[in-house]
Amino acid sequence: MSAPPRPSPTAAGIGRARQNAIYRAGVLGRRPSVPTDAEELERRGRRAMSPTAWAYVAGGAGSGATMRHNLEAFERHRIVPRMLHGVTQRDLGTDLLGVRHPSPLLVAPVGAAGLVRRDGDLLIAEGAHAAGVGYVFSNQGDVAMERTATAMGTTPYWSQLYWSSDEALVDSLIGRAEACGAGALVVTLDTTVLGWRPQDLNLGSLPFARGIGLAQYTSDPRFTALVRDRLDAAAGTSAEPANVTLGALRSLWSISRHHPGRLLANLRSPEPRAAVQAFLDVYSNPGLSWDHLATLRERTRLPVLLKGVLHADDARRALDLGVDGLVVSNHGGRQVDRSIASLDALVAIRAAVGPEPTLLLDSGIRTGTDLFVALALGADACLVGRPHLYGLALAGADGVRQVLQNLLAELELTMALTGVPDLAGITPALLQT
Ligand code: FNR
Repeated sequence: MSAPPRPSPTAAGIGRARQNAIYRAGVLGRRPSVPTDAEELERRGRRAMSPTAWAYVAGGAGSGATMRHNLEAFERHRIVPRMLHGVTQRDLGTDLLGVRHPSPLLVAPVGAAGLVRRDGDLLIAEGAHAAGVGYVFSNQGDVAMERTATAMGTTPYWSQLYWSSDEALVDSLIGRAEACGAGALVVTLDTTVLGWRPQDLNLGSLPFARGIGLAQYTSDPRFTALVRDRLDAAAGTSAEPANVTLGALRSLWSISRHHPGRLLANLRSPEPRAAVQAFLDVYSNPGLSWDHLATLRERTRLPVLLKGVLHADDARRALDLGVDGLVVSNHGGRQVDRSIASLDALVAIRAAVGPEPTLLLDSGIRTGTDLFVALALGADACLVGRPHLYGLALAGADGVRQVLQNLLAELELTMALTGVPDLAGITPALLQT
């Protein structure tokens, strides 16, 4: 009888490596600066944020039903571990749009991360790069995409686009995404108008109105031309008398601080305020339609993914149009209250489009086992939104790294305990639904 294979010394994998790092520090009396479970992470993240940052980050549409549905959908699926499989090594790598990614996880695009930390996007990029996790830059970023790209090194990054009502701005943003080395363009469809978000509304707080989250615009030549046109048109007309309140002064300070250039000059200039107004006019196109999407193929050489698809008919139509992939998402429950869970939509869409098309999922990913379930139900990869912002609030770039590594560690340990050597092995046969 031959001896059972001996585990290779490198077989520990990222799950055990992460556990070991935490337990070794524990022997020296140190605890992780970022909690390793979702609930405590959220609790501590909240304490590290201002009330307006918390409202914007954690808030959702209406009653919050969609956010609850997202979490409940994961609760309905149970993993059935398999024993004695003899598997000692696991590969979390995956091919997405022809590029090898070290793991099936990407950081979701989140706007106004500057609410949480100054230069938030740069810190997120550093954390994502340190964890070897791809990052989708937000069109509402606080750092120009060209700068954020430099922090990503060889780790893949994509660029997210909100379709502006100014078509020349759409082309300019696409051109910049190509030029800065983004691997794909992610067009978000579900935010042609902002959802009804009571947490922000009750504080009267919209980050963009305070100049937070406009860096892709204020760094854009087409957008700055629009701002100049606006200022020219206003020249000679008498301005409305300003209503000077403490809030108005705070907003002026914030707008001036976030606008490119020197603070003192910005405080004196009408340009930063004109930029906010111009942004509010053009940031989205409420009339966005399939006709707009049909022009995309000629406008970029990048692979295109559509984010925010929830219905199988929309998914089929998008793929017929020639897009390269879909992100099944309800925007983390921030747009339509009482919407279906993204995970339920994923099951229906995968059934409708078959095994080939690239499908990513977000909304409700909180643990490594959530990743496992989503992959089993047909996702090729997942995006994580709020949790990495809690890590950002708690410990900057290193907090982002820890959140991402914890998710991957738990995924890898779950694969270890269910006998799965690679992502292809994560199938519905390992779930009880
Ligand atoms: C977002 N999301 C988002 N999506 C997008 O396409 N562009 C954006 O600028 C933003 N901005 C944004 C800000 C904040 C604070 C949050 C929480 C979310 C949606 C995001 O990409 C993703 O779809 C959800 O966050 C996923 O849900 P979870 O992981 O937060 O539950």
